[in-house]
Amino acid sequence: MPPEILVVGAGMIVHDQILPSLYHLQRLGRIGEIAVCATRHESVRKLAEAEILRRAFPGQRFRMYPDAPGEPRDELYREAIARLAPRNMVMVAVPDHLHYEVILEALRHGQHVCAAKPLVLEARQGEEIAEEARRRGLLAAAEYHKRFDGRSLMARRAYREGRFGEFRLGTACLLEKWHYRRSNFANWMTAENSDAFTYIGCHYVDLVHFITGLEPRAVSVYGILDRFPNGNQGYLWSDARVIWSNGACLNVQNGLGFPDAAPGANTQGLTLYCQGAEGGALIAHSDQYRGLQYAYTDPPAYAEPSPDYFQYVDVGGPGLAPVGYGYRSIEAIVTAAIRVNSGECQVEEIDRAGLLATAANSGYNDRVIEAARASIRQGGREVSIPRPV
Ligand SMILES: NC(=O)c1ccc[n+]([C@@H]2O[C@H](COP(=O)([O-])OP(=O)(O)OC[C@H]3O[C@@H](n4cnc5c(N)ncnc54)[C@H](O)[C@@H]3O)[C@@H](O)[C@H]2O)c1
Repeated sequence: MPPEILVVGAGMIVHDQILPSLYHLQRLGRIGEIAVCATRHESVRKLAEAEILRRAFPGQRFRMYPDAPGEPRDELYREAIARLAPRNMVMVAVPDHLHYEVILEALRHGQHVCAAKPLVLEARQGEEIAEEARRRGLLAAAEYHKRFDGRSLMARRAYREGRFGEFRLGTACLLEKWHYRRSNFANWMTAENSDAFTYIGCHYVDLVHFITGLEPRAVSVYGILDRFPNGNQGYLWSDARVIWSNGACLNVQNGLGFPDAAPGANTQGLTLYCQGAEGGALIAHSDQYRGLQYAYTDPPAYAEPSPDYFQYVDVGGPGLAPVGYGYRSIEAIVTAAIRVNSGECQVEEIDRAGLLATAANSGYNDRVIEAARASIRQGGREVSIPRPV
């Protein structure tokens, strides 16, 4: 039986990546029914009526929780999870600081889990999730879609073949557009819950491990407190320094502040300077400018769209098909759960292969984030990251 999927959360990432990927997998017969749970009916209704989703997936529907307007229901996801038969799957796409509770609830009900990054904000929580998943033979994955960008996989393979030598110094950045400040983020990406590094810097920390296999050992994060338009305070700019297990150093800059007028959906990229026995080596990825320059007439605008993350294309219908590493990442995680259910592979093999970030094999992300949150509150003091036990 193809698994049913319950998505908890109905915000931006569900609209932009998760739901269209699931609809496509449903169209291919790889998954069964889809349900989406938010706290308010209006949120799921808006998602159901989203124009691009209706156009791309004509006739496809999901079950809505709540199914009618009323008071917000923060705990409704527990009922939705309880209704699933064991060994289906829960996709967790609520704000960062709420992941832990939802993930554990899903695992305790025997569900495979895929959580939007970051998995959790504390190392202990990640360990608890890994243990719960291991005991029950369930997949608990964090969705780090940059891993499924072909360039990340190319760099990983060549690095692990020794072709780049050893990583020494690097820089990465990911700055989202200024207008993110006016989104629902203003309600939760506040100083007490998150910061620019925790929200988006984690992508490049994960990627450096994914490529090199190195482990982070210390982090310092300097954050600048700023106000969202609704008056809430958040660390909307951050500058992080991550020291790795071989002494290498990565600088990561993040923010919600890339100009709205600038081309591209954001600015992002990674440069790693490496050294071999006889000379230097370089990995440099422009992850925002991917070679496309479009100027439209209606309305007049210049853009540099990325064909690689997530696009809808017409490949003969019905509707439109999603392409890109955003889709491939969801597909890979769902496929892994299906293979575990069919007995084709064990969760431990997935942990060992290291292609998917699981709670068991990516605890370094949780440790970095816990240390980063401590550092940013102390003005950027270096916080060391304990080695895993
Ligand atoms: N590049 C990426 O990988 C990427 C991008 C965006 C977001 N994310 C991650 O995805 C998660 C969600 O982010 P978003 O951008 O969609 O945020 P968002 O603010 O747009 O949406 C959050 C959603 O969670 C729902 N929610 C909150 N509490 C809930 C509860 N108790 N029960 C059910 N639903 C609840 C809200 O109703 C809302 O629909 C975050 O962890 C974020 O860091 C990842």
